[in-house]
Amino acid sequence: MKGVVFTEFLEMVEGRFSADMVDDIIDDAQLPHGGVYTSVGTYPHSEIVAMVVALSQRSGVAVPDLVRTFGQHLFGRFVQAYPSFFTGVTDAFQFLSGIEDIIHAEVLKLYPDAELPRFIVEHQDARTLVLLYQSPRHFEDLAEGLMHGCVAHFGEVIRIEREASTTAGATGQRFTLTRQA
Ligand code: HEM
Repeated sequence: MKGVVFTEFLEMVEGRFSADMVDDIIDDAQLPHGGVYTSVGTYPHSEIVAMVVALSQRSGVAVPDLVRTFGQHLFGRFVQAYPSFFTGVTDAFQFLSGIEDIIHAEVLKLYPDAELPRFIVEHQDARTLVLLYQSPRHFEDLAEGLMHGCVAHFGEVIRIEREASTTAGATGQRFTLTRQA
């Protein structure tokens, strides 16, 4: 996983908890990289998982809740770091339906070794967007948080539901986004 995800995670922990909490979870997690990450480096995603588990144990907040909160935070950081990705994009459905072909395609040009998930647009109309998320790393909670961050960014009211796909040949998590207003 790219170092930018680690550095953003540790910044969020420092901001929402404390600098001591950052030191504590790095110690608890017994990380091969010792908690030292550069934004352009690449590290095993198991290290961020170990830090989230440590944070959960110390804070009492469940792991999925922490990962979703991180996703929301990360989206806000992406808005600041990659303003060009938002040029001409007017709503959340437009942005989210382009994650695979536009956003992550650009990310891959910037970071050729990025390990990205797959997003398949299964259905889209004015009121509904159905996305199938597939990744061997199972960061569906992160995806959910990023989607909430995206909806908040565009100031829209959209319900996000998630279920495991039971469609043959299409494993993964299916997100159904429905406009409420
Ligand atoms: C400006 C917008 C975005 C940027 C710049 C961006 C960039 C990235 C980067 C750098 C990674 C790490 C790749 C690696 O670790 O090797 C990543 C992973 C990921 N991205 Fe995005 N992303 C964006 C938007 C989104 C959105 C809106 C979603 C969800 C709806 C999403 C879902 C994910 C997930 C779930 C991962 C974790 C890897 C996995 O699931 O296998 N991204 N993205």
